[in-house]
Amino acid sequence: MPHPNLFVLEHPLIQQNLYYLRDKNSNSLNFRSALDEIGALMVYEVTREFKLISKEVETPLEKTTGYILEKEVTLVPILRAGLAMCDGILKLIPQARVGHLGLYRDKTTLKPVEYYCKFPPNIEESEVIIIDPMLATGGSAVAAVDYIKDRNVQSIRFVCLVASPEGIALMAENHPEVPIYTAALDRQLNDHGYILPGLGDAGDRIYGTE
Ligand code: PRP
Ligand code: URA
Repeated sequence: MPHPNLFVLEHPLIQQNLYYLRDKNSNSLNFRSALDEIGALMVYEVTREFKLISKEVETPLEKTTGYILEKEVTLVPILRAGLAMCDGILKLIPQARVGHLGLYRDKTTLKPVEYYCKFPPNIEESEVIIIDPMLATGGSAVAAVDYIKDRNVQSIRFVCLVASPEGIALMAENHPEVPIYTAALDRQLNDHGYILPGLGDAGDRIYGTE
C-alpha cells in the first residue's frame, strides 16, 4: 500500500552516513558516531513544517519581530536503538523534552512487547517526534503511535533510517496521517523479520550485544 506521507531523505551527507551504518565492518564506535550525525542531519527535514509564532525582540539597535516555535518539542525514542539516534537530534533541538518508550520485538511472534513508558507531562501540547532507526514489520512503530495518540497528541512524526515496504504498508493502514521520514526504503523483510539489505540488528550494533 503506498503511504501518503512518506519522505525519503536523499541529502548526500545523509546517504554517506547510511553507507557507514550499513557496512558490517563498522564497529560500535563508528556506528554510534554515524547514527549521531545522521540524526542531526535528518532533523532539518523532519522539523521543516513546524509552525512558528512571531515575537518581538530587541536587538542592540532597535526592536524588531523574530520567530520562535509555536509548540514545545518532545522526542520519543523507542528503546533501545532509538535512544542512540536521539542524541544527534537533541544537538539541534537541545530544549526538547524526551519521553522514553521501551519496546522489544518478541523473537517468535515478532510482535512488540512494552517494558517501559515514561512521557513528559502535557505531551499533548507538543510536537512529538518518534525515533527508531528500523521500521521492519511496523509493529513497534504502530504501537508507539498508538501510545502517543492515547495521550491525545495531535502532531506526530516518525523518523527512522531504514524502512521496509511491509512496515510502510502497516503504518499506512493504521496511521496514514503520520509522516514517516527515512533515509532509505529497502527491498523486503527476510523470514526472521529483518530488513534486506538493511543494516542488521540496530540495537546490537550500537551496544555491542548479540
Ligand atoms: C528493533 C528496532 C525497532 C524494532 C523494529 O528493536 O529498533 O524497535 O526492532 O521492528 P518491527 O518494525 O518489526 O517492530 P528490537 O525489538 O530489536 O529492540 P532493541 O532496540 O532493544 O534491540
Ligand atoms: N530490527 C532491527 O534492528 N533490524 C531489522 O532489520 C529489523 C528489526
